[in-house]
Amino acid sequence: MENVLTIRNLTKRFGRLCAVNNLSLTVDRGQVFGMLGPNGSGKTTTLGMLMGVINPTAGEYLWLGEKPTHHIRKKIGAVLEHPIFYPYLTGRQNLELMAMIKQAPTSNIPRVLDLVELTGRENDKYRTYSLGMKQRLAIASAMLGDPVILILDEPTNGLDPMGIAEIRSLIQKIASDGKTIILASHLLDEVQKVCTHFAVLKKGNLIHSGPIDDVGKGAEVVEVSADVADLDRLLDTFTGLSALHRQNGYLQVTLKDGFKSKDLNRFLFEKGVVASHLVTKKKNLEQQFLEILNTHDESL
Ligand SMILES: Nc1ncnc2c1ncn2[C@@H]1O[C@H](COP(=O)(O)OP(=O)(O)OP(=O)(O)O)[C@@H](O)[C@H]1O
Ligand SMILES: [Mg+2]
Repeated sequence: MENVLTIRNLTKRFGRLCAVNNLSLTVDRGQVFGMLGPNGSGKTTTLGMLMGVINPTAGEYLWLGEKPTHHIRKKIGAVLEHPIFYPYLTGRQNLELMAMIKQAPTSNIPRVLDLVELTGRENDKYRTYSLGMKQRLAIASAMLGDPVILILDEPTNGLDPMGIAEIRSLIQKIASDGKTIILASHLLDEVQKVCTHFAVLKKGNLIHSGPIDDVGKGAEVVEVSADVADLDRLLDTFTGLSALHRQNGYLQVTLKDGFKSKDLNRFLFEKGVVASHLVTKKKNLEQQFLEILNTHDESL
């Protein structure tokens, strides 16, 4: 696995406030890496340091194994907070201007317009664009130099569900093209849907980092009910059971790693019990996120 980003002991203090504290993490090629954390946890400050617009107080980071240089930065596209475009220029004219500033070839413009599905609207003035179109133009602009890494800060902020879905599929499209994407978000659901890996920041401290897939591992929960007495005692004898709770009038069976709801269903069937309700509740990122934050309450 090729390493794209290594962060070592990165720290940023604003006076007495420590916005990012001794942060270390790595991102590998092809990952869609989500930085999660409540407001003020240091996500934007971290991305700002990685983009060279905020000076770290201490620590360092390497892009593609190298200290950040102008040459390396040209391989990174970024959409940080509110991008500045000219309202009275068209989408295309704005991209032409950005291409000039970035010294990217204007011949890339049709391709990036296509990518973000703004082809056909490129000659309309920027001020007539919807919020979603503005955000897509920002991503198009970040992709002008054909970067290998794309950084996005809260890419779906303020968008409606449709706009959010469009940005999500755009991120997936860019990722499937082999690009590495690093995004900051406080929307857990979004991170769960598009990211392969995630980190959780709290008050500038890294409190968790790992693949998204781990989130559900060993944590499949099946809600079950059946018209029999002593269902709980019967479930206790199921070899795939890891925990049993009663919730909302149902029994909640937490399965062991490797067991699926159909194993539970078969077990019940073999015991002559027909489940009247059997619903798999994969533990979602939100639950895990809250657990991660709560377990770290005492230490922070
Ligand atoms: N220029 C600055 N001067 C002083 N303090 C700052 C500055 N920029 C950020 N901070 C503080 O640093 C902390 C982290 O802010 P940051 O914007 O990185 O958080 P965030 O995780 O991006 O939050 P949000 O989810 O609201 O975007 C906050 O307490 C913030 O007030
Ligand atoms: Mg932020």
